[in-house]
Amino acid sequence: MRTQTDLARALSTARERTDELFRLVRPDSLYERPIPERHRIVFYIGHLEAFDWNLIGRYRLDLRSFQPQFDRLFAFGIDPPPGQLPADQPSDWPAISEVERYNQRTRDEIDDAIEEVPEQLLHVAIEHRLMHAETFAYILHNLPYERKVTPAVLPPVRETGKPVHGSIEIPAGAARLGRTAEEGFGWDNEFEAHTVDVPAFSISKYKVTNREYLEFVRAGAGAPFFWTERDGRWFYRGMFSETPLPLDCPAYVTHREAEAYARWRGKSLPTEPQFHRAACLPPASGNFDFRHWDPIPVNANDVASHAAPAQMFGNGWEWTSSVFQPFPGFERFPFYTNYSEPFFDGEHYVLKGASPRTAACFLRTSFRNWFRPSYPYLYSTFRLVES
Ligand SMILES: [Fe+2]
Repeated sequence: MRTQTDLARALSTARERTDELFRLVRPDSLYERPIPERHRIVFYIGHLEAFDWNLIGRYRLDLRSFQPQFDRLFAFGIDPPPGQLPADQPSDWPAISEVERYNQRTRDEIDDAIEEVPEQLLHVAIEHRLMHAETFAYILHNLPYERKVTPAVLPPVRETGKPVHGSIEIPAGAARLGRTAEEGFGWDNEFEAHTVDVPAFSISKYKVTNREYLEFVRAGAGAPFFWTERDGRWFYRGMFSETPLPLDCPAYVTHREAEAYARWRGKSLPTEPQFHRAACLPPASGNFDFRHWDPIPVNANDVASHAAPAQMFGNGWEWTSSVFQPFPGFERFPFYTNYSEPFFDGEHYVLKGASPRTAACFLRTSFRNWFRPSYPYLYSTFRLVES
């Protein structure tokens, strides 16, 4: 269990992480909207502090607002239904220098009183910020290359031999989902812990690769959002450059594409309990926690035993066939009522695992991610099951 001092340090590390990310956007591009369904970049610069301020400064410490219009302007992100795009203009947003002033004062006021902040709220502030470090990477991914600053050093990817695909038999048994309060911090939707009986099934050893998905595209399916074709050759649109399609890396696809591929192969996507049955404990290393910007081959860093599926945590979230629903006994957080509940609408599916840009704290097995089935910007992969 982490102490208050550890958490204060983790909050400041998380701030450095997001500050660093915003510095990858060229200053003349901070009012761009790289993903049409999301806010302009400037919103995220103010949002992280406004969230901390509203949660900690206002809700918990009852401090006096010094800029209430920013508290409201930067309070909430958006997830519009398909076809309903935001229409605000760059001129609707304040100058970056004003946002930076607001951010600095927020940090100073929160840091001055940090010892009075309950651990649970510090966890919420840290994890909320780190979740945005990932979702902001999706936004940055879609900013044209000339509008961003490429880091001086990019991590190398180890060469691997071609993966030998196969499947792993998982015997019938109980899957444990969720967590108990004694196990430490979790978001509202991670409670209560419970078990689900799962009949025997088999699951693919590796995530479905670009090479495999390419066969589907050649058979007439549409190409994933991250691919582009020129003169009959396929390329992957990476974070900082385009590369020839890396055939042994996992295919980033939507839930709809993953499901269609599974049907084409006569198989299906795992359910959330099946994922839990198949997954071993998260590894100490892997393609998560900001080590890489893009995927690595499905058999790279393959430390899993031959009897276990590889890379269930890292190198891309994995789609499940489970609709995002509350666990029995769910109670929303009183201080953040909109974290999960609005998404129990039957329109979002559960993803498990982690992507290259997922912070290590989210690798606890109870963590659940969810998105709309046709949202194309995610680092989301999949594997197949057969019952
Ligand atoms: Fe947020």
